[in-house]
Amino acid sequence: MQEQIKNVNSLEELQSLYTSVFGKNGSMTLRLKEMSKMEPSARAELNKENAALREAFKIRQTELETAALNQKLKTEFVDVTLDIAPKNCGTIHPLTQTLLQIGTILESLGFEMWTGPEVEDDWHNFTALNTPSYHPARDMQDSFFLDNGNVLRTQTSAIQIRAMETHGVPIKMFGVGRTYRKEMDATHSPMFGQIEGLYVDKIDAHITMSDLVATIRTMLERFFEKKLEMRIRPSYFPFTEPSIEIDIKWGDKWLEIMGAGMVHPNVLRNCGVNPDEYQGFAFGFGWDRLAMLKFGLNDIRQFYDGDVRWLKNSGF
Ligand code: DAH
Repeated sequence: MQEQIKNVNSLEELQSLYTSVFGKNGSMTLRLKEMSKMEPSARAELNKENAALREAFKIRQTELETAALNQKLKTEFVDVTLDIAPKNCGTIHPLTQTLLQIGTILESLGFEMWTGPEVEDDWHNFTALNTPSYHPARDMQDSFFLDNGNVLRTQTSAIQIRAMETHGVPIKMFGVGRTYRKEMDATHSPMFGQIEGLYVDKIDAHITMSDLVATIRTMLERFFEKKLEMRIRPSYFPFTEPSIEIDIKWGDKWLEIMGAGMVHPNVLRNCGVNPDEYQGFAFGFGWDRLAMLKFGLNDIRQFYDGDVRWLKNSGF
């Protein structure tokens, strides 16, 4: 019997062998029933045999259970080093990436982010910015006017007016948002993104054109992650005096990147700021243009097509 128990190879088999020995009509059960009729020595012998058999079953059961567990551990092993199936992940749109990067740089220079309404009134978009009623920017050709005289913001410069009106001075802010103009070709979209910087403080804080240029150089060089050749040209904007335009050398070409200047005294006055006590600089640019340069694109419209295949193939 002992041999038979040792040779059993599954728990099920062991169970049925056990039943055949110790079950209701099992061989040992029947023999135990006869025990009272036995000689004491035969009785002791049977008791011994009974205990030995039970022990043998127990040992074999433990062996088979351990073997089953080991087998399970082997086959149900999880290989944590195995690659998971590739997932279809979204990415951050290149324009958003650009905005986040420039925003982070400006914040590190102490500028605080502002936004403003995309539908603006005449005061914030033009008049407060010292743009006289005969200025060409007011022309129906360039701007999207609404029936009530409001306009789809043509420049984020409107945000600097709102910031000075509500926050007051001194102020160091940048405005971000969508702007709208009636133009459309490979490098112009009727809707585009602009960033506007403004830094105004007491006259004895000595904010000058050189601070302006240094701020812009720092911002651009950190964004493009390389040293840049920059060119400054005199220009005209109604809201700055003097006004400049800034170009950067890209390959062998000069590219116009942004407008800037010292905030015009009339603009300060329009925001309730005394230009004899305060002065500062402002700058504004389209961040789509910077994104195109950084990502090597030549058609601005691709940014707004919402074509997922293009986004994927461009490696964004
Ligand atoms: N608002 C100008 C534009 O849309 C850009 C600009 C030029 C903004 C000079 C400024 C500035 O703040 O000082 O073309």
